[in-house]
Amino acid sequence: MEEKLRRIGADALRELSNAGTLEDLNELRVKYLGKKGELTQVMRGMGALSAEERPLIGQIANEVRSLIEKELTTRTAALKEVAREQRLREEGIDVTLPGSPLLRGGKHPLTIVTEEIQKFFLGLGYSIAEGPEIETDYYNFEALNLPKDHPARDMQDTFFISDDTLLRTHTSPVQVRTMEKTVPGLPVKVIVPGKVYRRDDDATHSPMFNQVEGLAIDRRITFSDLKGTLDLFMRDIFGPKTKTRFRPSYFPFTEPSAEVDISCVMCGGKGCRVCSHTGWLEILGSGMVHPRVLEVSGYNSEEVTGFAFGLGVERITMLKYGIDDLRILFENDLRFLQQF
Ligand code: DAH
Repeated sequence: MEEKLRRIGADALRELSNAGTLEDLNELRVKYLGKKGELTQVMRGMGALSAEERPLIGQIANEVRSLIEKELTTRTAALKEVAREQRLREEGIDVTLPGSPLLRGGKHPLTIVTEEIQKFFLGLGYSIAEGPEIETDYYNFEALNLPKDHPARDMQDTFFISDDTLLRTHTSPVQVRTMEKTVPGLPVKVIVPGKVYRRDDDATHSPMFNQVEGLAIDRRITFSDLKGTLDLFMRDIFGPKTKTRFRPSYFPFTEPSAEVDISCVMCGGKGCRVCSHTGWLEILGSGMVHPRVLEVSGYNSEEVTGFAFGLGVERITMLKYGIDDLRILFENDLRFLQQF
């Protein structure tokens, strides 16, 4: 019986090493270890052995069985690896297939317009200044000649954080902050892009929007400098045919003050729905810096003068691209954003 077991073991190992496929291995598993397998048959006959022989034969039978099992595992792994390599070789990598596209982001239209504005003023020798979005009552209003009970505060529906702290309603406070940081008497030429906040929400107003402030201070700066600068600017942004119009207005921090209109970008001035049939579009506020603003900022209003202006980036973007609802600028809808 011992001999028979050893022969089965030797046969099994030989056949296993010759097996070329996983199916072959499976057949051999059944042939030797299966319910009716050769080894199983022999082990069934062990009942007929004597009490002395049985443990010895039992041990040999177990050894043969585990040898066959071990070899089966090893061969299975080896054949699987061969099959995998063959599959890879057959499938290969088709280098002519188109790759998966890498999606590139684009600039938001508000960023495009802000950068265009910056580029224009950098070309005129301006630098870029910034200030905090959480501002004090002092810089947002008081220093700009808007004391606590001033009626003009009503125009800027303000988010207050405390009695003295607020979300800035415009970029004008950076006028004062910039002059304070400059050695008094030295010229200032800055633009200030930034976010501002007001309690407004409809098709043309958003509680957060973007402005660009401009400030130029020097000896003998006049209103004609303001006119020349803004006229050139409007033609740069809206095209060379654009006309500008200065309308007298009121802002507490400028004197005199003017609102600037451009000839309608849609109809060229003939009159249409966009310009309410006036031919003109209101674009920004401006004026000569009020002497009081110069003085609180440490400048001598007898020595220097200056002009300032403030514009809304959303409004300019909407006019430039013919967008009729401001809210679409903030919805992150790719169908809209991919057009720029
Ligand atoms: N700060 C004003 C606003 O947001 C706009 C403005 C008007 C800015 C006149 C100026 C200016 O610098 O001179 O309504």
